Amino acid sequence: MLNSGDSTYPVDQPRLHIKGGYSLAGEVRISGAKNSALVLMAGALLADDTCYLRNVPALADIGRMAEILQAIGVTVKEQSDGIEINAQDLNATNPPYALVSQLRASFFAIGPLLARLGVANVPLPGGCAIGARPVELHVRGLQALGAEVIIDHGVVQAYAPKLKGAKIYLDYPSVGATETLMMAATLADGETVIDNAAQEPEVVDLANFCIAMGAKIYGAGTNSITIVGVDRLHGTEYDIIPDRIEASTFLLAAAITHSEISLAPIIPGHLTAAIAKLEEIGAKIKLEGPQRLRIIPAETYSGSDIETLPYPGFPTDMQSLFMSLLAVSKGNSLVSETVFENRFGHVPELNRMGADIRVKGNHAVIRGVPFLSGAPVMGTDLRATAALVVAGLAAKGETIVHGLQHLDRGYEAIEIKLGQLGAKLERRGGVTQPVKC
Ligand code: EPZ
Repeated sequence: MLNSGDSTYPVDQPRLHIKGGYSLAGEVRISGAKNSALVLMAGALLADDTCYLRNVPALADIGRMAEILQAIGVTVKEQSDGIEINAQDLNATNPPYALVSQLRASFFAIGPLLARLGVANVPLPGGCAIGARPVELHVRGLQALGAEVIIDHGVVQAYAPKLKGAKIYLDYPSVGATETLMMAATLADGETVIDNAAQEPEVVDLANFCIAMGAKIYGAGTNSITIVGVDRLHGTEYDIIPDRIEASTFLLAAAITHSEISLAPIIPGHLTAAIAKLEEIGAKIKLEGPQRLRIIPAETYSGSDIETLPYPGFPTDMQSLFMSLLAVSKGNSLVSETVFENRFGHVPELNRMGADIRVKGNHAVIRGVPFLSGAPVMGTDLRATAALVVAGLAAKGETIVHGLQHLDRGYEAIEIKLGQLGAKLERRGGVTQPVKC
């Protein structure tokens, strides 16, 4: 195995070479939310008409989702400022396993397929680096809506001549299950109530998109959502919300490099937890306009405790990003990951950079160190890899971040945006290969 600055990584693997210690300045444009765009692309299948989604981020996963929709008879045209989707000729063929196996979000098609065609055959999404990712809450909810569902040879086969509204209680406020069942219920006979529903902003974005198509949805953003079924949904145009996790990533990049930057567009209400935690440990966040924030860093940060929870609790997707900053904050911190069972993949890599973090079960105890040192590191999942980039921006010397196939799923041109802010980093090696999660 040839080395790329370290004897353990193949020379051609795509990687980011980051020179740490440079401060950032200026303003960064936040892209549309990945976790909205993917589910809204599936939601467009509910209409037998043309939908136009704007502010769609240019991500690997978006391209894959487009391919999957095209494989089931949907016309998808990627335009300069968005995506045009027409599902008039939607069919229930099995999308190719090679495609759907790379993208968990392909499972979002099951609700609309059932609602539109009465039948759906969608491969069971397997687990990924951060956990088993089961879908029993989706399946049980669809059965409550009157679908017959069997899982045969790794494919979820669902059948329902006409879905019927039902009262559904989710054992866990699953984002995906809430979205699947909300979509399915829009065309069901009668009223559906989803209790213990997820309240994430992306759930609200999907509800607003479906309402724009003519759906009757009430209570999205609370833990109880009511959907009154209608006969059909029509096409619409829709602007996707800004990505709150990308915004948090840039807030942490600024905080850890002691930089002042502005971010826009953002929705302040979607960043409450991140802002509160950053201010608790010493940063200042100023609202510069209805959709624009500015972060003022601290000289030194104090440690703090974090427990990830369903929204509006502290978002699990921000856990690894904050851990990079807590690693160089004064004092001890305790991070508890309660949403996914294996979301500390960034810890051993941060420790290779000189962090002092010990994991016990779903808790990580962090002892702040004065600085991190650059090293070759391997990203294991999307947000773990982002945390290593954030750490590399502040580390002494060069950090070589591998695992860009994860990063490219969730960040639009992150090295270009960081470079425009003054970071010194360069992408080298081949193109990234698809990865599922
Ligand atoms: C969505 O995943 C996001 N992905 C994730 O973002 C995010 O971390 C997660 O919500 C939580 O906010 C997309 O929206 C595409 P869940 P999802 O169903 O819907 C368990 C990122 O980095 N569960 O709320 O899969 C599950 O195993 C990604 O952008 C069941 O047990 O999340 C997990 O432990 C990562 N049974 C917990 O619930 C089910 O049927 C939360 O999962 C469904 C979920």
